[in-house]
Amino acid sequence: MDFEIVNGPIEALETDCVVVGVEAEGKPAPTAAALDKAASGYIQELIESGDITGKAGEQQMLFKVPGIKAKRVLVLGLGKADERKDRHYRKLVGGIAGTLKKAGVSSAVVALDGLASEQQDTYRQTRQLVEWASEELYQYDITKSKKADPIKLETLSILLSEDETELGEGALLDGAAIANGVSSAREVANLPGNICTPSYLAERAIGLAETFESISVEILDEAQMEELGMGALLSVGRGSAQPSRLIVMQYKGGNEDEKPHALVGKGITFDTGGISLKPGAEMDEMKFDMGGAASVLGTMEAVAEMQLPLNVVGVIAAAENMPGSKATKPGDIVTTLSGQTVEILNTDAEGRLVLCDALTYVGRFQPQSVIDIATLTGACIIALGHQASGLLSNNDELADALLDAGEYAADRAWQLPLWDEFQEQLDSNFADIANIGGRPAGTITAACFLARFTKEYRWAHLDIAGVAWKSGKAKGATGRCVPLLSQYLLDLAEQKESAEQG
Ligand code: BES
Ligand code: MN
Ligand code: ZN
Repeated sequence: MDFEIVNGPIEALETDCVVVGVEAEGKPAPTAAALDKAASGYIQELIESGDITGKAGEQQMLFKVPGIKAKRVLVLGLGKADERKDRHYRKLVGGIAGTLKKAGVSSAVVALDGLASEQQDTYRQTRQLVEWASEELYQYDITKSKKADPIKLETLSILLSEDETELGEGALLDGAAIANGVSSAREVANLPGNICTPSYLAERAIGLAETFESISVEILDEAQMEELGMGALLSVGRGSAQPSRLIVMQYKGGNEDEKPHALVGKGITFDTGGISLKPGAEMDEMKFDMGGAASVLGTMEAVAEMQLPLNVVGVIAAAENMPGSKATKPGDIVTTLSGQTVEILNTDAEGRLVLCDALTYVGRFQPQSVIDIATLTGACIIALGHQASGLLSNNDELADALLDAGEYAADRAWQLPLWDEFQEQLDSNFADIANIGGRPAGTITAACFLARFTKEYRWAHLDIAGVAWKSGKAKGATGRCVPLLSQYLLDLAEQKESAEQG
């Protein structure tokens, strides 16, 4: 589906459907009022008869409205202006996309006025419409023999004034790039563990490098990782027939000598818990344990599509955690790439084991910042539920940049403390460090473990256990944190450009 910006009087738009809004207490937004005028009070009549009230979420599809070129008019109830937030706008956009899909129209024009909060800028509002309409229209069918009906909607246009058009067009490009990144992340994360293996993740990265000239990729196999001394990462895949992989992507949009920003994703393509086996209920959802890896792939794609003037390294630590006869056992001690030894007291705390070696590995790029993204702890779901990603960092400026990016991109994170006092929970009698810290503050002690490997650079950790996928009837991957990460990099690119302009 294509997005475009259109101008002009609403009554003159030739399209299958125009979408306008009416506020609470039946007050038409400006574009709805203009349409009403062209239609000689047709909408006003429906307001007066009580068929249109403006209640939030209300939808009325009108046909053959007189005095206008469009074939249909979809009137949305906007609710009260002062109650309008991202959450409401997101629901409105989802509702519009859902209705247009069901109506089977091939083109539509949305008038944005009144839909989002009044404080909202045109760029953000336009971009969100693209991202959220795309989110609603995503449908998974790769592993179904009966394919989903293709979406008929070919062009979704946004009506803006002429002086807002340029801004709007920039928003469309960014929005489409991020939306594509989110869809790709969802698609790869939704695949079952018997298709999406560590080697499959490597294939996806190779695919990106084939699509974008600005991306190159290197895949390290187990022998190469052995040679380097990645004992922690390798210990996780020991019980699996699927070989582990370290996937290293490089996006070059900045100068040759410019230090990169690094993204490191947890890519456990299935987490049984290993010998510390998980209970059976809902274990299928552990195919989503590569959600961090999916968000790295999706963000690399978005960044390449936006052609950001930065260098970005994307690393995926990919392994399958299985309880085979060669599997790591509780009490086993491994030596990490950093030289530190780890006593593996619980083989289900495997994410930190693959990540710690990948985090040491990215040090070789002398990165300006490193962000790891991981479905790391069930404790994060208890702490923050399914709304916010957990954020922990060794650098407050970096943490603030990520919190702001998450807020702007409506993909929020919430910071937890990374105090040294928590480190004691990881003491081991037999190695430098244990891989678990007991029940209290499970998200923090997991981050404390990673912090032992990230002392050389500015680092932040995003625990996406609660947000990477939905359970129940709507079971499926969300593509989070692609919007947050893309926004963080967009912000960096903007800062860099304004610094260069002096
Ligand atoms: N992938 C899981 C974390 C997880 C669990 C994410 C449920 C989403 C839903 C991770 O590898 C894990 O098993 N963590 C353990 C750590 C514990 C053994 C210290 C956990 O959270 O129970
Ligand atoms: Mn686990
Ligand atoms: Zn896991």
